Amino acid sequence: IVIVGAPLLVLLILGLLLRPYIVKKVRESLLQRELVTLKKEIVNESDSRFSLFRFSKIRSATNNFSDKNKLGEGGFGIVYKGFREFMNEIKLIASLQHKNLVRLLGCCIKSKERILVYEYMPNGSLEEFIFGVRAKKSWPVRRGIIEGISEGLLYLHDYAHECIVHRDMKPSNILLDHEMNPKISDFGIARICLSSVTESNTTTAIGTFGYIAPEYYSQNVYSTRSDVFSFGILVLEIISGKSAVGSYQLSGRSYELRKYAWQLWREQRCDELVDDSLGEEYPEMDLMRCIQIALLCVQDSAEDRPAMRDVTMMLSNGSKRLLLPVKPGSCSVHIDVGTEIEL
Ligand SMILES: *[C@@H]1O[C@H](CO)[C@@H](O)[C@H](O)[C@H]1NC(C)=O
Ligand SMILES: *[C@@H]1O[C@H](CO)[C@@H](O)[C@H](O)[C@H]1NC(C)=O
Ligand SMILES: *[C@@H]1O[C@H](CO)[C@@H](O)[C@H](O)[C@H]1NC(C)=O
Ligand SMILES: *[C@@H]1O[C@H](CO)[C@@H](O)[C@H](O)[C@H]1NC(C)=O
Ligand SMILES: *[C@@H]1O[C@H](CO)[C@@H](O)[C@H](O)[C@H]1NC(C)=O
Repeated sequence: IVIVGAPLLVLLILGLLLRPYIVKKVRESLLQRELVTLKKEIVNESDSRFSLFRFSKIRSATNNFSDKNKLGEGGFGIVYKGFREFMNEIKLIASLQHKNLVRLLGCCIKSKERILVYEYMPNGSLEEFIFGVRAKKSWPVRRGIIEGISEGLLYLHDYAHECIVHRDMKPSNILLDHEMNPKISDFGIARICLSSVTESNTTTAIGTFGYIAPEYYSQNVYSTRSDVFSFGILVLEIISGKSAVGSYQLSGRSYELRKYAWQLWREQRCDELVDDSLGEEYPEMDLMRCIQIALLCVQDSAEDRPAMRDVTMMLSNGSKRLLLPVKPGSCSVHIDVGTEIEL
């Protein structure tokens, strides 16, 4: 017994000592196997390219994740409860294919690190384009960007496998490719919607102030029409070169961007809203039309806002008649940061 037992005992002790290491290795290899299955599913189902990247490769490509190689920081809002949820999210994002959405090229998972790899956008974000000084911002380029964003959103709302609400549409989440085509990025907090009319309830409103719709921060409900609101704000920013996070003076009063725009539009002073850097070089009728469409999108009541389908139609068909936008409400709300602003 002693002779047979001793080696067994040694093995047992060795096993106990190495247990954490063995568990880790087994877990990792199961995880990698699941990833390979996921990849196969994605490639089969959505007929797209999708790669599993090695962690070491990403680390060397980014020079050990150095700040120098950092292009920007996404708001990956979700803390995933489990690996499953993360996998489902990846599958969903990988299935999205449209010329105005940033493509997910692949992913990399190593122990606690979860990395999504997107295609590279050389011309930066819309934020730099609108508010930066270097860019050439002619009206045709701006209009092309407005149309592209509307088509990307229309795809998410109406043509993706499942209807998706982006929930965080803002200039830094719109990237520009080498031909200045806009691509919507950062689906970190995007959610599948129940239907375009039913609003979903969230526990906390995430998103960026200035771009989120009133019903979202006051009642925590969102729908595709909340994205339409953010889209309208983006259009006003693209036209005016002014940020939604700020207030603007008009006859001694200060207004937030959408009220400021509404007021000028109402008084037929649209030329004062237009970004100075456009000079006189723009078709007045078309630009006024875009302002009116934007104002329809940023109305207080979600039901009053057009669906993205109608927005793309209004943008592409110059002879389609437009409704008159309702004046933005004048209620005051408290915001977490402690500032009270008039909306
Ligand atoms: C690929 O998808 C088809 C139908 O969508 C299914 O029948 C087939 O089993 C799938 N193949 C693999 C390898 O998953
Ligand atoms: C990468 O950076 C981390 C922390 O920033 C550091 O601990 C690690 O040693 C670095 N690895 C290499 C290969 O330089
Ligand atoms: C966009 O990228 C192209 C090619 O990379 C470049 O030629 C062009 O100057 C860029 N435009 C802007 C506005 O940065
Ligand atoms: C959302 O939740 C709140 C509180 O839980 C509830 O009062 C409200 O009716 C809900 N809204 C919808 C549209 O389900
Ligand atoms: C544009 O709108 C007008 C008016 O609603 C309509 O008669 C026309 O058919 C539309 N054109 C296209 C190409 O959809």
